[in-house]
Amino acid sequence: MSTVTSLLGAISDVGRDAKRGGYSRPVYSAAELDLRSWFIAEAERRQLEVQTDRNGIIWAWYGPEQDGSLVTGSHLDSVPGGGAFDGPLGVSAALAAVDELRARGVQPGQHGKRSLALTVFPEEEGSRFGIACLGSRLLTGAIDADRARSLKDAEGKSFAELSARNGIAPEQLGADPEGLARIGQFLELHVEQGRGLIDMAAPVAVAGSILGHGRWKFTISGQGNHAGTTLMADRADPMIAAAQIVLSARKVAAAQNDARATVGRLQPIPGGTNVIASRVELWLDVRHPDDAVTAAVVQKIHGQAQIAAANEGCTVTLTEESFSSTTGFDSGLQAELQRLLPGAPVLDSGAGHDAGILAPYLPAGMLFIRNPTGISHSPEEAVEDSDADYAAVALADVLEGLL
Ligand code: GLV
Ligand code: MN
Ligand code: MN
Repeated sequence: MSTVTSLLGAISDVGRDAKRGGYSRPVYSAAELDLRSWFIAEAERRQLEVQTDRNGIIWAWYGPEQDGSLVTGSHLDSVPGGGAFDGPLGVSAALAAVDELRARGVQPGQHGKRSLALTVFPEEEGSRFGIACLGSRLLTGAIDADRARSLKDAEGKSFAELSARNGIAPEQLGADPEGLARIGQFLELHVEQGRGLIDMAAPVAVAGSILGHGRWKFTISGQGNHAGTTLMADRADPMIAAAQIVLSARKVAAAQNDARATVGRLQPIPGGTNVIASRVELWLDVRHPDDAVTAAVVQKIHGQAQIAAANEGCTVTLTEESFSSTTGFDSGLQAELQRLLPGAPVLDSGAGHDAGILAPYLPAGMLFIRNPTGISHSPEEAVEDSDADYAAVALADVLEGLL
């Protein structure tokens, strides 16, 4: 019988990022492929029936594959320089919960019980192809398959090309109603990504909702030129407008209750110390409970970006790359989870999750496990060993109760 800590220990060297710190495990990188193989081996070791579907989602069946099953899982890809738990905690807890259920004599798919499936979703972070929760968006049809196929990574490789290279027929990518019908209820266990559970002094919470969030790309174009020969008055430097966008994002969001705006990625092109950039690409992440406020925040930043660009003799364009409305989880399932985990508080999530993409289509819920640093998307993300091992017991308790 494996513990969550021993499972996480077995993958603790995979995808370590010596430069950034933490882990870089983009979808279909060598590291993420190693983790997928690790999951498949662990599932097969537990006599689960494993298959990878036409969107690259891995399913491991405990009991026969059937409609209306209880499904739990998370993801194995990471942000650049991410922590050890965002994704792998839920996957490891699911594997350890299978051991726990077996030790308790619980037999999914038998004696009137539903089957249980474990899932691993690809590209949850969107760190390679830009769209978060790409696997669950494809499964549900929330993203158009042609658009997904044409997404490109930083090296210009398309999602279609990477899928094909990994045994997934690109023409088969897209909405999968049969796959979706397999899920009667979906449950994702996840590391808590803020200070919520520290403040509540509780090891586990039941999710209430996911904050509405989206990603926008600004492209600012100017005149590429020489850093030494171009007088300051003669410049059309897109980096100046980019700097203004970064400052506007902070200012506009700070003035709006509950808003969050982040510029975490910015690329000058061509990107040389002695080169005035000809173009800057900049990505903005904005979140707020009210979708109309999110739109207003983005518009305000855009307005300020246009003024800054014009003042510098540059132009700016804005493209929405993805948007997910604020999503409440199924209230019936939430009540069941609270009944099965007495005393667990309800916590809303500022982070996006595959469970949130599935929630409009079927009863979905989440459990959050305490993070003593309150930090995530960073190497400092943490979970105490005792809480990690408790996660599997908590998950087994709710799975047993829901089966
Ligand atoms: C995913 O972790 C997100 O909220 O960006
Ligand atoms: Mn995650
Ligand atoms: Mn994440």
